[in-house]
Amino acid sequence: MIEEQKLAAADGTAGTGEGLARFASPQMLRHIVLDLRQMKSFLQEPLVMARAEGIWYWDVSGKRYLDGCSGIFVANIGHANPRVLAAVHDQLDRICFAPPLHATNVPAVELANLIASVTPGDLNTVKLFSTGSETTEAAMKLARQYHRQTGNPHKFKIISLYRAYHGGTMGALSASGLARRKTVFEPTLSGFLKAMPPTCQACPFGLHHPSCGITCVDQIERQIELEGPESVAAVIVEPISNTGGITTPPPEYLPRLREICDRHNVLLIFDEVITGFGRTGQMFAAQTFGVLPDVLCMGKGLGGGYGPLAAIAFRDRVAAAFWGEDAENVEFSHGNTFGGNPLSSAAGVACIQEILDRDLCANARRQGDYLRGRLAELADLNVITDVRGKGLLIGVGLAQDAAAGVPFPADRRFGQKVAKRALAKGLILRADPDWIALAPPLVITQDEGDLLFDIFADSLREEVKAG
Ligand SMILES: Cc1ncc(COP(=O)(O)O)c(C=O)c1O
Repeated sequence: MIEEQKLAAADGTAGTGEGLARFASPQMLRHIVLDLRQMKSFLQEPLVMARAEGIWYWDVSGKRYLDGCSGIFVANIGHANPRVLAAVHDQLDRICFAPPLHATNVPAVELANLIASVTPGDLNTVKLFSTGSETTEAAMKLARQYHRQTGNPHKFKIISLYRAYHGGTMGALSASGLARRKTVFEPTLSGFLKAMPPTCQACPFGLHHPSCGITCVDQIERQIELEGPESVAAVIVEPISNTGGITTPPPEYLPRLREICDRHNVLLIFDEVITGFGRTGQMFAAQTFGVLPDVLCMGKGLGGGYGPLAAIAFRDRVAAAFWGEDAENVEFSHGNTFGGNPLSSAAGVACIQEILDRDLCANARRQGDYLRGRLAELADLNVITDVRGKGLLIGVGLAQDAAAGVPFPADRRFGQKVAKRALAKGLILRADPDWIALAPPLVITQDEGDLLFDIFADSLREEVKAG
């Protein structure tokens, strides 16, 4: 049973203030457009947040919500963290912007050093940005320029996976493999190729692991050979694909992809915009899977939502091509005005320190295991096909008859309906028709995990009953 009383309990901290409700009125909302959302339907059920703390949000009417997807995989250390707030307040008094063409600034330097120290292997060189899309764009441009500066000027093609999402800007979108995000903007850029993803829950080759022999990764090598390795610059993948349905590749997949890239002098880019900063139970999924990419993209949890912050880290041999040891004019020919701005950087430093000091990676593993255990209690409903992901990136696969493998009809929108029920009960979830993600802040306690589970379970049961 949901402990509605607990949720409803006035905790005396809602503090939404008088008059904030007017910000949810149709008059006030008619001037704003939300991401990926039809505004007419949003106006019918508007949600305007006023305050957040820990794993909780409060909307302008004072209603409390458990943040079951960390905003959108961002609030890894939770909301209103005192250490980060103090760091940003302190930075406000010192310098808010430095001239990017002439100088950098103290927190940016500190952050680059800290990122280099927490990334695995020799991912020692860091460029700072504001958004995840900027990082995937930058990583792909870096790969092209790298090859040009190391004697392979014809390597320009980028291979990525169907069902992947690498961002909304045109290059990042060209690497993304979701029709519903990009068809309306096509044609996207040329030189971007797609391969089938390792979605074992619905293998694109109709095979089963392990007898499949990981055909999907071998197909990438075949693709490189057929295209001509001298024309392929990079492969970009999310170690665990979010839009692919929290798809965890089989253990052999990423090591073998690493070998393939090495064989053909193709750079391997990990898009860890979601999986970074403790989400999978290690600082990066590169560590969770034991595979070192050439370029690692990070965002979201890096700034924890306290400032727009993202970065790429790349390996020594890639960095060497841009350092200027042997030639002039080899600088990375790329930049964004707000990359490494002092306020966001100060927030990033404090976020990483918080993850390290509180060992939030361990808590992600612990609470992730606990939630997985509780999800097993829902087997009787026969709608959960599998539980995917790592740490506190949990994907719950859904089907009409899980045992028999019968999917929901496309128009059933089961996952979204469960999420809608959960939202009404005060739980925010990320949902697709046939899967739901549970990804609360990494600071979640077991009691809070129980509350999340109870609301999720109740919402699921109700939707099953509704038929
Ligand atoms: C895996 C991945 N890469 C890149 C991006 C783009 O990040 P942003 O929205 O910060 O530009 C996203 C956004 O959701 C993402 O999930």
